[in-house]
Amino acid sequence: VPTARYSVAVLPGDGIGQEVVPAAIEVVEAVASLHGFTVDFREYPWSCAYYQQHGVMMPSDGLALLARHDAILLGAVGDPSVPDHVSLWGLLVPIRRAFDQYVNLRPAVLLPGVRSPLRDTGAGIDILVVRENSEGEYSQVGGRMFPGTPHEAAVQQAVFSRRGTERVIEYAVEQARRRSGRLTSATKSNGIIHSMTFWDEVFRDVMDRHPDVSGRLVHVDALAARFVSHPHELDVVVGSNLFGDILTDIGAVVVGSMGMAPSANLNPERTAPSMFEPVHGSAPDIAGRGTANPVGQIWSAALMLEHLGEPEAGETVLGAVRRVLEDGEVRTPDLSGTATTRDMTDAVLGALRSVA
Ligand code: NAI
Ligand code: MG
Repeated sequence: VPTARYSVAVLPGDGIGQEVVPAAIEVVEAVASLHGFTVDFREYPWSCAYYQQHGVMMPSDGLALLARHDAILLGAVGDPSVPDHVSLWGLLVPIRRAFDQYVNLRPAVLLPGVRSPLRDTGAGIDILVVRENSEGEYSQVGGRMFPGTPHEAAVQQAVFSRRGTERVIEYAVEQARRRSGRLTSATKSNGIIHSMTFWDEVFRDVMDRHPDVSGRLVHVDALAARFVSHPHELDVVVGSNLFGDILTDIGAVVVGSMGMAPSANLNPERTAPSMFEPVHGSAPDIAGRGTANPVGQIWSAALMLEHLGEPEAGETVLGAVRRVLEDGEVRTPDLSGTATTRDMTDAVLGALRSVA
């Protein structure tokens, strides 16, 4: 019987991306051998360091090279020496758009043994944020007028298409159907009267087609507060590019640490590779110490395995992560421990063998 073989492009990127990506690769290799499949990793050095040398974040054939793989595993990009909009728009945004990864799936789950900064989390936290990932507020449309004069002005246009809005809400409905049957949509149509009233209208149209799922529109400011005050009442949340981005940083910290949160940039139709990366960035404040929490990256790799068609392997990885956190002996500093990235990775590798 030929064993399944997957080809994964690896972009460790900058800062702690260089530290947590190798951890995730080790875990994937271990679980692959336990479950009897093979993953071929091909690393690309595209990053801010690459930019310093070449003046671009990736070569002109970069996207074509990535397109040949089954999936992309990304660490984080960003370095204080390069403006953040250059690193983001030179690598991440082009990948998300060229490969039509219009869903950014970001689970926020409080795992047993992890302490939330919230006082009362007895009811648990298990939120799935579906962030629109291809248009919206993150657009190239706009410009500067009267630069360098006292009259200087900047205009940035948000772009919401019916197709783009509809497809991400449809995706969120499917997720809600598989979970609680409830879907919350982030809006701000009281203040943003053109694009957000449009978003609401499309949301209502989509919900009308799916009477089995209950939909609710909540203004994003109130919703942000609910992530803190009543996170246990939230299940699937759908939001625009900007709203989803902000809500998921809140989601990450309420479940214990920025270092815990995974994400998947999905092309649901599979016409191009999807990309898996933690919610966090390159964390220059702790980079180089070997103390970054690798869980967000490892969990992202588990989402990748699920997407590649190895859901049991993804479950095994998550089971190992849960085991380590529940034991509570090995914790990185963001979880109030003293363990290193290496220690935490070794603990997950050890747990893998016992849960598999
Ligand atoms: P960040 O997520 O890198 O860091 C925020 C805070 O969380 C820092 O205090 C950091 O030490 C901590 N943190 C993050 N990940 C951690 C981990 N795995 N373990 C322990 N602690 C962790 O966000 P920040 O500081 O806003 O951005 C830093 C750089 O990363 C910037 O250049 C930014 O543009 C870039 N960035 C890149 C992203 C990506 O590649 N997808 C996403 C977010 C930011
Ligand atoms: Mg973000």
